[in-house]
Amino acid sequence: MGKTLHVGLPGREYDILIEKGALEEAGQRCRTALPRARRLFVVTDSNVGPLYGERVVKSLRKGGFEPVIETLPAGERSKSPEQLCRLWEKMMAARLTRTDAVAALGGGVVGDLAGFAAATILRGVDFVQIPTTLLAQVDSSVGGKVAVDLQAGKNLAGTFWQPKLVLMDPETLRTLPLNVFMAGMAEVVKYGCIADRAFFEFLEARPGREQIMAEIEHVLYTCCACKRRVVLEDERDTGARMLLNFGHTLGHAYELAGHYTQWSHGEAVAAGMCAAGQLGVELGVTPADVPERIRGLCAALGLPTVISCSMEDYAAAVGLDKKGAGETIALILLEELGRAAAHRMSKSAVLERLKSLPGC
Ligand code: NAD
Ligand code: GLY
Repeated sequence: MGKTLHVGLPGREYDILIEKGALEEAGQRCRTALPRARRLFVVTDSNVGPLYGERVVKSLRKGGFEPVIETLPAGERSKSPEQLCRLWEKMMAARLTRTDAVAALGGGVVGDLAGFAAATILRGVDFVQIPTTLLAQVDSSVGGKVAVDLQAGKNLAGTFWQPKLVLMDPETLRTLPLNVFMAGMAEVVKYGCIADRAFFEFLEARPGREQIMAEIEHVLYTCCACKRRVVLEDERDTGARMLLNFGHTLGHAYELAGHYTQWSHGEAVAAGMCAAGQLGVELGVTPADVPERIRGLCAALGLPTVISCSMEDYAAAVGLDKKGAGETIALILLEELGRAAAHRMSKSAVLERLKSLPGC
């Protein structure tokens, strides 16, 4: 069974395969997507490698690959220029050639880093995404954004490099810590908010991990279908793709307020969506009942709905946000539940409005 989505970017097309037990078929699936490759350089992390590395490597051998597995320390700190250089050297030591390929087995950290390494080694080799977190399955593995973090901020050095295949096994989500699973749910809720009211209501009726897991293929398919639509419209993030940032500008402020340690990205995005809903009401864009619906769903999922934040952190997030241009910023607001639009406003007007939000 399983579900497949085709991302039809001209010259860079690929399939997203969603199937329970897909890890066992990694060899066969990768062989179809990478007919020329002999070596496959598999990047994973210290949590995912021990859980799934052997299974994937065994399947890749069956698919006729010579897999080489490289395990990084788990965590955002690995998405660094230092680890990128290390990977390049390891790839050359493994005698990777331009017809070989890279596989990312892990969450968004591994996907972004391995993808950027694939995009840059030997001026670019093919790569496949085998995402194992909910966030990576619904968001980061699709659409080709790859990057590392700099001292100056997250994701500041990167490029667009589409994978040749995204292979996701929903069963891998069962080993996720609850907080990591729920951080991914914030992005799932986001798709309901920005693009699909019926899906939001589907989630409202299933606000628990087991209830979501019972319908996980549908959840992954719905989110990936939405992301695919946006990426097909705006691969290079100059227009419609910015709608995916609903809740992210204010979420960025909350990540800053918590020094990137107190709140995970997903938690910050959850509170950011609640605040953006409220802001939308105050600006006369969002219907009055919407923020309460978002707060209700986030709370039911155990996600924060309010995070305390100083005006300095809001100012830094608004000023630093890559969506900002000059003194204005494109705020993503909901015109109704299930429909988002970008509203350009002056940064100072946004900051003035934020003063009235709870937690400020
Ligand atoms: P992550 O990759 O750090 O994974 C979270 C934790 O879960 C890690 O400790 C990891 O080892 C562990 N883990 C992963 N899979 C597991 C499994 N199946 N079982 C048990 N443990 C498992 O974090 P993430 O939330 O997946 O991704 C966050 C990253 O994604 C950030 O760097 C963010 O910038 C990036 N991102 C990129 C895009 C994009 O479009 N490229 C979009 C959103 C986020
Ligand atoms: N996660 C935002 C994007 O892929 O554009």
